[in-house]
Amino acid sequence: MTDVVQETIDSVTIAFDIPDEIVEDFKYAPGQFVTVKIPSEQTGHVARCYSLSSSPYVDDFRLEIGVKRTRDGYASNWLCDNVTVGMEMTVLAPSGQFTAKNLDVDMAFFAGGSGITPVLSLVKSALIAGGGEVVLFYANRDIESVMYGGQLEQIAAEFPERFSMVNWLESERGIPTAQAVTEILSDHKGTEVFMCGPAPFMDLVERAAVECGVNHANVHREVFQSLSGDPFDTATLRRLSDDEGIATATVYLNGDCITVEWPRNTPLLDVLLSQGHNAPYSCREGACSACVCRLVDGDVDMVQNNILVEEDVQDGERLACQALPLTDAVTVSFDAL
Ligand code: FES
Repeated sequence: MTDVVQETIDSVTIAFDIPDEIVEDFKYAPGQFVTVKIPSEQTGHVARCYSLSSSPYVDDFRLEIGVKRTRDGYASNWLCDNVTVGMEMTVLAPSGQFTAKNLDVDMAFFAGGSGITPVLSLVKSALIAGGGEVVLFYANRDIESVMYGGQLEQIAAEFPERFSMVNWLESERGIPTAQAVTEILSDHKGTEVFMCGPAPFMDLVERAAVECGVNHANVHREVFQSLSGDPFDTATLRRLSDDEGIATATVYLNGDCITVEWPRNTPLLDVLLSQGHNAPYSCREGACSACVCRLVDGDVDMVQNNILVEEDVQDGERLACQALPLTDAVTVSFDAL
């Protein structure tokens, strides 16, 4: 941990310094999140996901998350009250699908409140590493609740030709209207549209995008599911079926090719972690896609899938934390997805 910056009266930016030996594991794409382990007297710890506000194109190996207090939210209040410079914390490697495949296209961003956090990461990255036009619609309750106001002003001054921003304050204009969103989107029909914020706000933006004729594949919505399990508990192997027997998995992971015996009732991720292989994961419940791998040969079943869409699955993507073998031999790759 290196730094804690008070963003607003009820939000902070926490910056993590990543130890050299695990820097590779913490490479990330703009828009991704990390899962943080937060001490709890009642349960030992809780796990929460926080989006990264930093950009891999700007901030090197300094990972920053934005945390806003939520009423009765144990984790966000604990982080805002207790994190200090120099504190060590356990954080899982970055993950998430709210990312841009191509930073060179025009992009329209819609952020509500603390939803600005992954959006800021994407905006900075698109402006620095891409070449397209970037427009940001940023809605907040009032001027006091605007996170990253200073950074955004700086960005606007630095990229006057390519970046424009609408600051929407509900204290002055009420909640964002479909008309305001449509005005932006009708001028940017060919753009990639990204949104993060309260569900009603994202519903509004998504409807407006569809009505403006934006291709559905170009609409990206950040969806956070709360974790019901404990992703930090790697000691417990889960059995998800009564199907006995052993399959064989050939796995391309971090540049290596490994072969493991795969009990048919145990998810592939659990098998790999139990044998000391450093496979990526976060939620371990089919909700975040951190563990995504590509099927190369054979077939697997996914017990749950709350994140991959049909095209991803057809493309061969599978969630290792939910994968059980359907064939005796399966080959998957975590590398070069
Ligand atoms: Fe989150 Fe597998 S670890 S979907």
